[in-house]
Amino acid sequence: MGFLTRGSFACHCVAVLVVFLVSPPSAAQPLSPSQYKTLLRLQRLLEYQPPLVGWSNATDLCYLPASPSLAVSCSAGRVTGLSIVGVADRPLSANFSSGSLFTTLARLSGLTTLSLVSLGLWGPLPGKVDRFSSLQVLNLSSNYFSGTIPPEISNITSLQNLCLTKNSFDGTVPDLSPLTTLTQLDLSGNRLGPELPYVSSTLVSLLLQNNSFHDRLPPRLASFGHLQKLDLSSNHLHGWIPAFLFSLPSMQHLDLSGNRMTGEVPANLSCGSQLLYVDISDNLLVGGLPSCIQANSSNRVVLISGNCLNSDDFELQHPNSFCNQGAMPAILPSANKISGSKSKLGLILGIVGGVIAGAVLIGLLVLLLFRKIRTEDAEVNNTFHSPTAGKSLMQVAPRSTAEASKKDLCDLFSSCVACSLCCRFCFYSDLIQTC
Ligand SMILES: *[C@@H]1O[C@H](CO)[C@@H](O)[C@H](O)[C@H]1NC(C)=O
Ligand SMILES: *[C@@H]1O[C@H](CO)[C@@H](O)[C@H](O)[C@H]1NC(C)=O
Ligand SMILES: *[C@@H]1O[C@H](CO)[C@@H](O)[C@H](O)[C@H]1NC(C)=O
Ligand SMILES: *[C@@H]1O[C@H](CO)[C@@H](O)[C@H](O)[C@H]1NC(C)=O
Ligand SMILES: *[C@@H]1O[C@H](CO)[C@@H](O)[C@H](O)[C@H]1NC(C)=O
Ligand SMILES: *[C@@H]1O[C@H](CO)[C@@H](O)[C@H](O)[C@H]1NC(C)=O
Ligand SMILES: *[C@@H]1O[C@H](CO)[C@@H](O)[C@H](O)[C@H]1NC(C)=O
Repeated sequence: MGFLTRGSFACHCVAVLVVFLVSPPSAAQPLSPSQYKTLLRLQRLLEYQPPLVGWSNATDLCYLPASPSLAVSCSAGRVTGLSIVGVADRPLSANFSSGSLFTTLARLSGLTTLSLVSLGLWGPLPGKVDRFSSLQVLNLSSNYFSGTIPPEISNITSLQNLCLTKNSFDGTVPDLSPLTTLTQLDLSGNRLGPELPYVSSTLVSLLLQNNSFHDRLPPRLASFGHLQKLDLSSNHLHGWIPAFLFSLPSMQHLDLSGNRMTGEVPANLSCGSQLLYVDISDNLLVGGLPSCIQANSSNRVVLISGNCLNSDDFELQHPNSFCNQGAMPAILPSANKISGSKSKLGLILGIVGGVIAGAVLIGLLVLLLFRKIRTEDAEVNNTFHSPTAGKSLMQVAPRSTAEASKKDLCDLFSSCVACSLCCRFCFYSDLIQTC
């Protein structure tokens, strides 16, 4: 019995329900007693929430009237689809255990669709989630799951649609590229990051908004020929926007808003024919825009506010300084740390050099003063000496004889700027002997 295998946009539960409604009743084979027992156990584990009220061992769960909050589908005496949508606005009690829940669910080994939405489920998602060997749709949205997404999830190779939106998952997303039939991935509204995940290029819809991704847009996205919807908004992505994103052959909806993308949008990019919606607002973009996203057109909505784009037509832009300042912290940590420590070393050397040079200058001034006083004393004491003679002794005569050697001496200090300066200062002032 085919469950949702079609590839519309992610998180279209409506489609799941339509399939439920349209499906003819499954083969009249009654549900096996063990499957029944498992469903009743689930009812207890989920603490008898509204969609589960009225289940009993007398109810034929496979033939319940379909409702938006509960759908069970069965085939050959087994449950193949289970969709329960609650209204929980807080986590289940402390008695709840996500481990027990998935141990119980694993007994429904024929499941192809499992949706447990808004049921207050909390705790880690256990690795045994990979016991579902034919699962195609897994929807655990709007619960309170936390911790990392278990790497075992990439062992469910039949998965086509994975939706973990609005939980509290954090950390690095495991490598999902083994899921080669995955078409829809929605991990939005968690705290995942910092690296963008590796996923199969079969994806049609990739929704990663409202997370903690601190990354550049990876070149590997260029091979996503089926991608129709890419939402990376409200993260901390940085670096340049690559031109290829706009011209991916299937791309319809591209949202990069609310990140720290810098630089100019490449002027020579071209928009794919399918591109209907582009949102690059609230980034740190500067410069102009390529013509295909300069303005809304009849079939393309373009949102660009909150950048530093420079055109008179562009409204709600920041001054350039906003984007340049904002770009600094985004670029510095990712730039190689060597240059950072080098500049620190330079700063320290500069300060030390400055202090030494200052000390040398002060010493020089003191010497100058000292010499002056002694010269005056000498002049006062040797009243017979003519001032010119004294002057020639002190200044003129030695200069003519020692000029060349003085210059050579100063050249010796060429490796030390402060020393060399000091030397030349002495040379050009009248303090030859002091130096
Ligand atoms: C998951 O459930 C939510 C809530 O019902 C729904 O909006 C979304 O479309 C579902 N996603 C999938 C993949 O079934
Ligand atoms: C159904 O449950 C009632 C009590 O809840 C029990 O007495 C009865 O034996 C059960 N019937 C079957 C067929 O399991
Ligand atoms: C939790 O379990 C205890 C003991 O098993 C029970 O007394 C209590 O009613 C349970 N609480 C809820 C909310 O189910
Ligand atoms: C996936 O399944 C294979 C075979 O069952 C197993 O060896 C491997 O450890 C599993 N990988 C993960 C991440 O659980
Ligand atoms: C992302 O955050 C915005 C604003 O906080 C909110 O309106 C939106 O519903 C969120 N989306 C998801 C998928 O969490
Ligand atoms: C745009 O120009 C850059 C260099 O200026 C070049 O590397 C890139 O391939 C060009 N892209 C397209 C789509 O022409
Ligand atoms: C496109 O239209 C939207 C409203 O639909 C508007 O907010 C936005 O600023 C327009 N974009 C441009 C580039 O004019």
